[in-house]
Amino acid sequence: MALKITVIGTGYLGATHAAAMAELGFEVLGLDVVPEKIEKLAAGKAPMYEPGLEELLRRHVAGFEGTTGRLRFSTSYEEAGEFGDIHFICVNTPQKHGEYACDMSYVDAAVESLAPHLRRPALVVGKSTVPVGSAVRLAARLAELAPVGADAELAWNPEFLREGFAVQDTLHPDRIVVGVTSDRAEKLLREVYETPLAEGSPFVVTDFPTAELVKTAANSFLATKISFINAMAEVCEASDGDVVQLAEAIGHDDRIGKKFLRAGIGFGGGCLPKDIRAFMARAGELGADQALTFLREVDSINMRRRGHMVELARDAVGGSFLGKRVAVLGATFKPDSDDVRDSPALNVAGQIHLQGAQVTVFDPKGMDNARAHFPTLAYAPSALEAAQGAHAVLHLTEWAEFRELDPAALGKAVAERRILDGRNALDPERWREAGWSYRALGRPTA
Ligand code: UDX
Repeated sequence: MALKITVIGTGYLGATHAAAMAELGFEVLGLDVVPEKIEKLAAGKAPMYEPGLEELLRRHVAGFEGTTGRLRFSTSYEEAGEFGDIHFICVNTPQKHGEYACDMSYVDAAVESLAPHLRRPALVVGKSTVPVGSAVRLAARLAELAPVGADAELAWNPEFLREGFAVQDTLHPDRIVVGVTSDRAEKLLREVYETPLAEGSPFVVTDFPTAELVKTAANSFLATKISFINAMAEVCEASDGDVVQLAEAIGHDDRIGKKFLRAGIGFGGGCLPKDIRAFMARAGELGADQALTFLREVDSINMRRRGHMVELARDAVGGSFLGKRVAVLGATFKPDSDDVRDSPALNVAGQIHLQGAQVTVFDPKGMDNARAHFPTLAYAPSALEAAQGAHAVLHLTEWAEFRELDPAALGKAVAERRILDGRNALDPERWREAGWSYRALGRPTA
């Protein structure tokens, strides 16, 4: 009989995972404690903007004509416990308020709410990003609370999806990592991932701590790579070098690689910043804090970028923002997402606003979230309207449509043809030819 799967938590990770599991052919029940989320998903609507997700939901959510009907949603742990052979925990692990450590309360609550309803053998699979050591603790808790006892088993299977590519990354992962303590758990997970495994995704079977660490190590490496190139951007600025050419040149070395070497206003989002901080906090608890002190530097280089962007913009408009209009293109932490969590773009926009400029923001998909997050900024329905009367235009999230903007048309709207590229993603020549002063982080001024 085909495996039945529940997915607990239907945010960025869980909604995508649930839809992807249905696409792979399983009967899926998605669970969330927030009824509005469940209602939205049950109506075939994605809880966030994620390319391809809504199509997948419409193909599988039960109750619509023409769907496979394999995907249902519920708020009931009891129903989930009865339904699933495998339960994926996909709840978030945000940074604790005022601390570096991550908040495990949602993961703990998910396990503690599900366990009492496990009356037959089940595999509970953690996907959330957690501090190393969590899985061992949760496995014990699960066995203690489940009526079925030790037959309610835990496995750890970190998720590496990127926002904007979540569907693709889930259906065609570049690796599948599972931390298991039994052959049975490994066998079940091989069954779940049969399709991607047949397509050649590598399958790494390991222990709990290694599985947990793979995720935090990978994100720490990516964050380090970005901060490395941003540190080089600082040196380039001090020496009239060009960080874009530098990145391209070092990237030709396969050992370094070209990806994640785009200098700019740095990383943000719901993962990299909080994951490196939680990793430092956990290392401290384990007495291994010295091993990760470099991540403190990675974090501070990253945060410095935002302040530096503000300074550049202030210099560009003559040393003070008072009485100046600034257009901000981009509010999300990266393109192809509507996520503004810890967004460098919105942070820069906010700082400039607080320093007295009249800031008008446009983002292709992130306007609602940005408004909710920062209601005191002004928002415009297009780049052109945001640019009206601007003394400087700041390009802060590299949406493809911003690369296609017509500098001549935008030039007619602004008060001063001055663009600052916070993502090194625009073509300087196009803008300069249209009479703009183009300035970017880590590149020579002219
Ligand atoms: C990240 C990891 O990539 C993913 O594997 C993990 O599962 C979750 O965290 P995500 O948060 O979606 O994914 O974003 P990512 O594409 O990694 O970008 C993170 C941030 O780094 C963005 O703000 C982006 O603009 C920035 N970035 C990325 C750079 O500044 N320069 C780069 O070269 C690449």
